[in-house]
Amino acid sequence: MVPVSRDTCWLAPLFQFSWEHKSDNSKMITLSDSYNTRFNVPKPDFPYTVGKHLRVRSHIPPQPTNLSNCLLKFHARRERESIDPVQRCLLHPPSSGTFTSGVAELEIIKLVRAGDQHGAQLLAVRVLTSTHDLPSDTDLLAKFYDPLYFDHEQDDADPFLCVDSAYTHESAVYRKLAGFQGSIIPKYYGSFSLSLPIDHMNFREVRLILMENVPGISMHDLNPSNFTKSERQAIMKAIIDSETALYNHGVRHRDIYPRNILVLPSDHARKVVLVDFGKAWTSRSPFPEWEEKFLPGIPISPLLRWIKPREWFDGWVDWDWMAWVEQHYEHTRGSITEYMQRKWGPKDLSTDKKG
Ligand SMILES: Nc1ncnc2c1ncn2[C@@H]1O[C@H](COP(=O)(O)OP(=O)(O)OP(=O)(O)O)[C@@H](O)[C@H]1O
Ligand SMILES: [Mg+2]
Repeated sequence: MVPVSRDTCWLAPLFQFSWEHKSDNSKMITLSDSYNTRFNVPKPDFPYTVGKHLRVRSHIPPQPTNLSNCLLKFHARRERESIDPVQRCLLHPPSSGTFTSGVAELEIIKLVRAGDQHGAQLLAVRVLTSTHDLPSDTDLLAKFYDPLYFDHEQDDADPFLCVDSAYTHESAVYRKLAGFQGSIIPKYYGSFSLSLPIDHMNFREVRLILMENVPGISMHDLNPSNFTKSERQAIMKAIIDSETALYNHGVRHRDIYPRNILVLPSDHARKVVLVDFGKAWTSRSPFPEWEEKFLPGIPISPLLRWIKPREWFDGWVDWDWMAWVEQHYEHTRGSITEYMQRKWGPKDLSTDKKG
């Protein structure tokens, strides 16, 4: 999407469905208001509050949905301007999957990252009762993929498609990475569904996963200047090792940014934990027919995939990145073939500016 401030389109007539113009580079930009903004109707009160009890049902998600489908398309853009998002939740329920017999009752203990305009709601919960072995002696983290509290003003994302995609991808990745749970990724306790009342007649289903509440802080919320160089190097090394382990196991995270990396206290056995698999692939390539070309099962050296500095780690890295990566992963050089060099080796070695 071309970034355009919504403030620049205040002249759009109130009942015109959308406002379009051509930017300098002639790319079409469409800005439109959601139903809530146009009619000044608030969304219903936020349902995830501390102390609330939620009864959730075990759910097996369907196969991951198509990630590239998450863009806001013409029909959905029209719809969001004229239909209340609560009603839209009924029109666009999550993709079905299968319910199993398990149920659990949860109590919300703390809002970890929650509120309107988030792609997911992250809540610390306690398990009060459950029909399967959920731990009740420790708080878990529940991630709710609730489309109602997604940002409905966004001009490039369809809330319903995005949350469905994130839920199905994240659940599939946790299952595939069972062997890494509790070390470089959180332990996963399963996928569930919550029935939330809309009115006396109607309910909407919200999917969620339960996982370990990792005792770490998002790297995004930490100040690198509070860390020594050797601590920062240990963190960066752990990030490369963790991401490489996932890739070598056939998972591409695709969102390795500081906000999705939890840093643990220095006396902890785990250094970093990677979270947020909503955009991840359970493969190395986006299409099954390409996978063979990505040499599934064969480890790929960080000398190829991590040699380029990434600018979003700039505050953390103040040393010669390439020399440092070469020094740490020299022992993997012998595994690199000419084909790997062509496929994964950087085309140029300047800083990576995009994910
Ligand atoms: N298992 C966990 N343990 C502790 N904190 C976590 C855990 N998972 C997520 N968090 C915290 O919640 C934040 C949001 O989680 P997550 O990244 O999964 O949500 P999202 O909505 O998919 O993210 P984004 O804002 O990147 O789109 C993370 O940045 C992290 O601070
Ligand atoms: Mg995230």
